[in-house]
Amino acid sequence: MKVGIVGAGMVGSASAYALTMLGIASEIVLVDYNTDLAQAQAEDISHAVPFVSATLVRAGHYDDFVGAGVVIISAGVSQKPGETRLELLGRNAEVFRQVVDQVLAAAPNAILLIASNPVDIMTDIATRLSGLAPQRVIGSGTILDTARFRSLLGRYLEISPQSVHAYVLGEHGDSEVLAWSNAMVGAVPLMSFAEQAGKPVTNAVRSEIDAGVRHAADKIIKGKGATYYGIGAGLARIVKAIASDQRDVLSVSSVTAELGGVKNVAASVPRVIGSSGILMDLVPDLDETERIALAKSARMLKDLALSVPC
Ligand SMILES: NC(=O)c1ccc[n+]([C@@H]2O[C@H](COP(=O)([O-])OP(=O)(O)OC[C@H]3O[C@@H](n4cnc5c(N)ncnc54)[C@H](O)[C@@H]3O)[C@@H](O)[C@H]2O)c1
Repeated sequence: MKVGIVGAGMVGSASAYALTMLGIASEIVLVDYNTDLAQAQAEDISHAVPFVSATLVRAGHYDDFVGAGVVIISAGVSQKPGETRLELLGRNAEVFRQVVDQVLAAAPNAILLIASNPVDIMTDIATRLSGLAPQRVIGSGTILDTARFRSLLGRYLEISPQSVHAYVLGEHGDSEVLAWSNAMVGAVPLMSFAEQAGKPVTNAVRSEIDAGVRHAADKIIKGKGATYYGIGAGLARIVKAIASDQRDVLSVSSVTAELGGVKNVAASVPRVIGSSGILMDLVPDLDETERIALAKSARMLKDLALSVPC
């Protein structure tokens, strides 16, 4: 599958690198208004190709997206230390007004995969600007937060994160909801596994993991200015599900008919992803506290989305 990427900065290039390493795309075209940057990233990544895959990686213009099955939009400005994702909104909404039309003019059948922050609102904006069905406009949403949750749980329980089935729901950001009540390890409920393994999930452990997930980006941004490897791999994972029609269950954002009593809101729940985009939304069983928190997250996202005219 041919994959287009708009925004060849840290996130765009990390996703191109992950796609190349995993051999998911036959061709990757990088577009950035900084054409020197797009060219340099494409050349650098293409030098990894002989070691791993047969991917053609090149820089180009929107016209070169013709035939792309997925276009990742990671253009925009990155989060600065102390800046919330939501504060990025105004600047990135303007970028999307410039980008979405040009992408669709070249690749009208592409699925749009949104990474720019605040990703839930940018997914809503891209859906409105494109006029595409919500199933074809996918935000990376909480795919990264879910990975962080599984990673921290796996580390604490001394088990592979791939064997932890736990999701982060709602906003990719401060109001996100860690769904503890339905987390599983293999076929065993998390709490039961933790007792059996002699590693009880006490309130202190839970608070520490919650904070670790919620504040992971702040910590990384403080140390190195931006986060990109994790999300690069997450974006590649979503493209893989589409390219191979894998029908994987991934927590991603999309304009959802109803979530927590809020209509037409872009937020994350686990969804089945295949070649035509989102095939099914899964409504998780939550406890009362989580249900209230998810409804609150959805309400906040909806109010914010409504404040941005397209
Ligand atoms: N979804 C997630 O989990 C996640 C994780 C990390 C970062 N992000 C977000 O991804 C976005 C990109 O982050 P980054 O670290 O790669 O930033 P970056 O500054 O390294 O790259 C952004 C690129 O977009 C380009 N760009 C800006 N406006 C453009 C336009 N109109 N047309 C074409 N190109 C344009 C810039 O030239 C730049 O190269 C940010 O919004 C960031 O907050 C999302």
